[in-house]
Amino acid sequence: MRFERKGESPFHPGQPVPVDLFVGRRNEIDRINRAAKQVAYGKPQAVYIMGEYGIGKTSLARLIRVMAEADTGLCGFHVMLGEKNSLDGLAMTTVEAILQSDAVRQSTSSKIRDFVSMYIGERTLFGMTLRLDKLKKDAPSIQQGFLPFLRSIYQTLSPRSKGLILILDEINGIAGQPEFALFLKRLVDENAVSGAPVPLLLIVCGTQEKYGEIVKHHRPVERIFEIALIEAMTQEERSTFFDKAFQKVNMQVDQEAMNILCDFSGGLPRLMHLLGDAAFWIAEQSVIDKETAISAVAASAEEVGRKFVDQQVYKALRSKDYKNILKKLGRFDFDLEFKKSAIEKQLNEEEKKKFNTFLQRMKKLNVLVPGKERGEYKFRNRLTRWYFYLNSVDD
Ligand SMILES: Nc1ncnc2c1ncn2[C@@H]1O[C@H](COP(=O)(O)OP(=O)(O)OP(=O)(O)O)[C@@H](O)[C@H]1O
Ligand SMILES: [Mg+2]
Repeated sequence: MRFERKGESPFHPGQPVPVDLFVGRRNEIDRINRAAKQVAYGKPQAVYIMGEYGIGKTSLARLIRVMAEADTGLCGFHVMLGEKNSLDGLAMTTVEAILQSDAVRQSTSSKIRDFVSMYIGERTLFGMTLRLDKLKKDAPSIQQGFLPFLRSIYQTLSPRSKGLILILDEINGIAGQPEFALFLKRLVDENAVSGAPVPLLLIVCGTQEKYGEIVKHHRPVERIFEIALIEAMTQEERSTFFDKAFQKVNMQVDQEAMNILCDFSGGLPRLMHLLGDAAFWIAEQSVIDKETAISAVAASAEEVGRKFVDQQVYKALRSKDYKNILKKLGRFDFDLEFKKSAIEKQLNEEEKKKFNTFLQRMKKLNVLVPGKERGEYKFRNRLTRWYFYLNSVDD
């Protein structure tokens, strides 16, 4: 029987994972769900979802919101701060997230309608236009009175909503600003001491590095957050994921191919989707075999390089001088940290010389940072480390 390509790929490389393909994170989900229940009983909570780039912070926060909305009766707003680097920007983006939330869109309450009409200009075929002038004018007072602002939103949504979830995501732009740390601490403290706290689950998503920056600006922030650390997927979670995704389109993965996909993804969800997607498109039969898996790895290396590795780094790594080093270092068995001397053992004299300049260059480009001990180096970003590994596949 001829293999018929089944329309849509089950993988979602660029988006948060749909709920049915979400795997793992059981402990973190349970913990944050418990926090959500506390909030519904009136006790505010704050959680920092901590993890490397592409590890699944946004997806986890989204899942928590969906679950808490369905089961706990909270109402959530997911605020993607992106390039925003000021509290005014944060206030504006929060209003946008509130306007776009299901609870607000579906509400028939006249107070909510009034709120919406303050900021929405006209409705067009493609959605709505925001009254940016008004939003800009109001931003300073919203951010200064952020807690009263949240309280008024909560009061208009209550009693249908038992509390709010505010997710502050993509904080790279704002985390370096000292006022962000103060803002977080003030928000949580003011709420705790107010007679009737707003039942608020505050979730901040970011890397460990960004958490460090925030705490550096204002030490006491450390006391307000419970940390939910998310790490690379286990072997079992990786294969469950590939099985589930391919089953969705009536395809299977044979054992050898499964080992390759699991191994080369490094348990990094972003890579799992890229690899799976590549394998899906390359496959010419309904079973993913070893050859398909290897081609998928090679194809993904290219894509990871182009999309996720800093362009200066990408260019440097493509130079002829570094090609062998890239391969040998990539193939070497370590997580993120390696010893210079251990790699050197694999290199010939000429490569050793190049290796030194290579390390200096990578340090300068912020790809590598010093490890715990002398002579140790650490990759700052797991995707770059895995880019090295992906590149070691073709011989
Ligand atoms: N638990 C999961 N199960 C399956 N796929 C997942 C899971 N978590 C994340 N993914 C997938 O991994 C990719 C990266 O996820 P996500 O965007 O949530 O990560 P992130 O940590 O927020 O990344 P960034 O640091 O870039 O913000 C997405 O394609 C997403 O669909
Ligand atoms: Mg994210």
